[in-house]
Amino acid sequence: MGRIPQTFIDELIARSDIVEVIGARVQLKKAGREYKACCPFHSEKTPSFWVSPEKQFYHCFGCGAHGTVLGFLMEHDRMSFPEAVEELAARLGLEVPREGGSDGEARRPEESLYELMGRVAGFYVDCLARDERARQYLARRGLTRQIIERFQIGYAPDSWNEVLKHFGTSDQSRRQLAELGLIVERERGAPRDGERHYDRFRDRIMFPIRDARGRVIAFGGRVLDQGEPKYLNSPETTLFHKGRELYGLYEVRQSRAPLRRLLVVEGYMDTVRLHQFGIPYAVATLGTATTPEHFKRIFRLVSEVVFAFDGDRAGRTAAWRALQHALPEAREGREIRFLFLPEGHDPDSLVGEEGREAFERRLEAALPLSEYLVRTLAEQADLSHADGRARFAEAARPLVARVPEGVYRELLLARIAETIRLSPQRLQELWGGSGRPAEAPTSAPPRPPLPARRRTSAGRGGLVRQAVKLLVHFPELAGRLQPEKVEALLRLETPGAQFLNGLINELRARPARTTAQVLERWRDRPEGEKLARLAAEENLVPDAAAGAKELDTALDRLLEEAGRQRIDRLLEKDRALGLTAEEKLELQGLMTKLSGPRPSSGRP
Ligand code: UTP
Ligand code: MN
Repeated sequence: MGRIPQTFIDELIARSDIVEVIGARVQLKKAGREYKACCPFHSEKTPSFWVSPEKQFYHCFGCGAHGTVLGFLMEHDRMSFPEAVEELAARLGLEVPREGGSDGEARRPEESLYELMGRVAGFYVDCLARDERARQYLARRGLTRQIIERFQIGYAPDSWNEVLKHFGTSDQSRRQLAELGLIVERERGAPRDGERHYDRFRDRIMFPIRDARGRVIAFGGRVLDQGEPKYLNSPETTLFHKGRELYGLYEVRQSRAPLRRLLVVEGYMDTVRLHQFGIPYAVATLGTATTPEHFKRIFRLVSEVVFAFDGDRAGRTAAWRALQHALPEAREGREIRFLFLPEGHDPDSLVGEEGREAFERRLEAALPLSEYLVRTLAEQADLSHADGRARFAEAARPLVARVPEGVYRELLLARIAETIRLSPQRLQELWGGSGRPAEAPTSAPPRPPLPARRRTSAGRGGLVRQAVKLLVHFPELAGRLQPEKVEALLRLETPGAQFLNGLINELRARPARTTAQVLERWRDRPEGEKLARLAAEENLVPDAAAGAKELDTALDRLLEEAGRQRIDRLLEKDRALGLTAEEKLELQGLMTKLSGPRPSSGRP
């Protein structure tokens, strides 16, 4: 089917009410101009989930989930984007129009890639049904029919061109198969049978990796007997970025059980078997360390995560790496723990041997991040001597510095101080205050004083960011800007300013009434997620009128900054090469303008 026109989505957002849609699924309570509830995306006892009817936007201060009404349907009801659009349209009695009819020509290219992946996955499932040896293998590994179905596990036949034959019937489809990493180009020589490609996956059990919406985006393929590599994975493709995905996450979210925590393991087989044994909250990283992206995904869903590692040396190394990546994510309200399995076991073998209850008891007893950190460092230093304790402190310092400021860090610091028998205050003093440089505030105070001299480019980034944030929160302000100011902004050269200009121009050409409309228009553009984050940030500006003043001030300061920069450059040129008559005039003009009375008074 063709693409849904953006204008229709715009209209849909304008006519739907997020409070009504979310209210039908979550018990909302009115609180001032907004509504609040206990967050449906993580477990909590006091409400930190807010819905704004003005912005048509929801946001959870606990887990950071946020989005528009369409985003909510996708996250909460696990719908695809087109499904969410259909749902809203149906409520309003509207027909969803499609661009370019239904012959697929106006489709986005990824759409047909997803579809092809899905068809190949189905093909592998069919092949499994027909292959006795593959089915025997899975039976030997202890997988039930239901779990094989739930994970859509299949089998790639022992052939060089089965997928190629079935799906590579045109140049276009062969190009797509290659792009998806399903077929590989032959290296050299004229192919005997006239085929330039061959199947990547042959005689392997196929584990499809699905994205959050359930679309197959890659495969992991295991050999049935011996052979190298044991697991062959899809390469990175347009659809698949290894560091972003967690195997099993879609299946976790499909399961009906309330989601309290996630268990992160290493393997495909571990994940599948844990689900089978009644631990439907297991996911696997795909042969990579846990990335910041993984953490973002995890903590959007739950506030508790346990990492399981083999008890051997490799497992310990992997665990320590995971700890380092976890530190920036640690904070109060989140639980990050580490489970070490007995030597010779992986989660698959262990849960098979001792069952769910015993396995879950191990999870309950897993080491909290702080304990794991302290214990590991303590193993490497003799704490009975001052030297050893000093070494311990030195090793701990950079680790603590990676934890964001807050209650959790204080507690961790106290735990470390206790270990080396210092008071937390004294340790903090020795470490020079906080152990990391103070962070810049994320939003400027309502009326920032004008700095007398030049500011850094970071400061200018701050102004651009502030202006963009105001426009996201109050999109109607774009239409109220003076044309001369918009004109002047166009001459700004910072990269951020370019985006700001684009935003202003689009919003002037096609006014948006709500934050949600802006976000939906940017959904598929690179800056979309950044805009959504700005929308989710607390807004200190109470209303559009105050926002207009703020925006004006920010833009004036931005232009002033640019003016000062231009003056500096002209003065420099004057010293080095001299100025043309035109440049002299420009310089004079700028100097008079910028030395004139400043908009903010009361400065010395
Ligand atoms: P393991 O070698 O521990 O295998 O690799 P496993 O998960 O226990 O698999 P079974 O039980 O022998 O079937 C752990 C994970 O590392 C990745 C896979 O994601 C695997 O599940 N891996 C391993 C690869 O990507 N390629 C390999 O060749 C081996
Ligand atoms: Mn295993």
